[in-house]
Amino acid sequence: MQWTMISLIGRMGSPHENARRASQRPGTGKPTRLSRSVVQKGLAGSEGPEAGAFASDTGKGEPMSGELHRYFLNNGERRLHKWVHYFDIYERYFDQFRGRAPTILEIGIFGGGSLAMWRDYFGADATILGLDIKPETEKVAGAANRVYIGSQDDPALLDRVLAENPSIDIVIDDGSHVMRHMIATFEHLYPRISPNGVYLVEDTHTCYMSKFDGGLRREGSWMEFVKDRLDDLHATYTNGELKVSAFTRSTKSISIYDSIAVFEKAPQGKRQAFITEAMS
Ligand SMILES: C[S@@+](CC[C@H](N)C(=O)[O-])C[C@H]1O[C@@H](n2cnc3c(N)ncnc32)[C@H](O)[C@@H]1O
Repeated sequence: MQWTMISLIGRMGSPHENARRASQRPGTGKPTRLSRSVVQKGLAGSEGPEAGAFASDTGKGEPMSGELHRYFLNNGERRLHKWVHYFDIYERYFDQFRGRAPTILEIGIFGGGSLAMWRDYFGADATILGLDIKPETEKVAGAANRVYIGSQDDPALLDRVLAENPSIDIVIDDGSHVMRHMIATFEHLYPRISPNGVYLVEDTHTCYMSKFDGGLRREGSWMEFVKDRLDDLHATYTNGELKVSAFTRSTKSISIYDSIAVFEKAPQGKRQAFITEAMS
């Protein structure tokens, strides 16, 4: 029952609702980590979230395992800083890569806890990469195979990451959350990661916060950039008003959740429609 209660809080709360319940860390408006007593309550005799407590399946018709969520609540390792409702979203998109020795790049190391979580989730064969502007984060990034220090919008640094890791399957942007950084990083990396890769951007509620150069419908905001990508996805229907671009040809889906945007890549074929009906 403890799990159910915690799960519902995580599910129901938008970041702003949750912010009223949790004390916040200055910066991105993220909550501070769960208190030990809450974690211990979550641990007590629990096998994990009950069916239906989260998004119902992995997208493959299988129930969510809740494994990442459980890892987070039980975390006894390095500091890990995530909104509770992110875990079912991760699982939905990342499950397909497990057991396939994927390469994962996380931008934003902070306390190193998320790198350790990815190692636990994807296994020893995965290549985990961390990137952060603060050199001291290297000390807490022991779970990563490689750490890159510098700004996420530095094209030379991103080129080095790509040269040393030519097939990146997953990018998680949990870095500065500054609009121009998010856009610059996406524009540089997205076309160059694996053709079937996933690009996930966290904490997109910062798109509405002026301290991150965000603002409702503000020009230059990441969210406005994403809205343009929705049009690009449909370029083929615009009678040439929008060019069918490399993005159109390589993007399968764009999913928008509260505070997370996910782009799934897959080579796209010519759009075709047929009519089927009973034999006359
Ligand atoms: C929200 S924390 C990352 C949290 C971590 N991924 C986790 O889940 O526990 C953001 C991190 O981004 C880093 N950062 C800030 N600006 C950056 C930039 N321009 N380029 C790369 N990293 C940056 C910060 O140093 C900080 O460690």
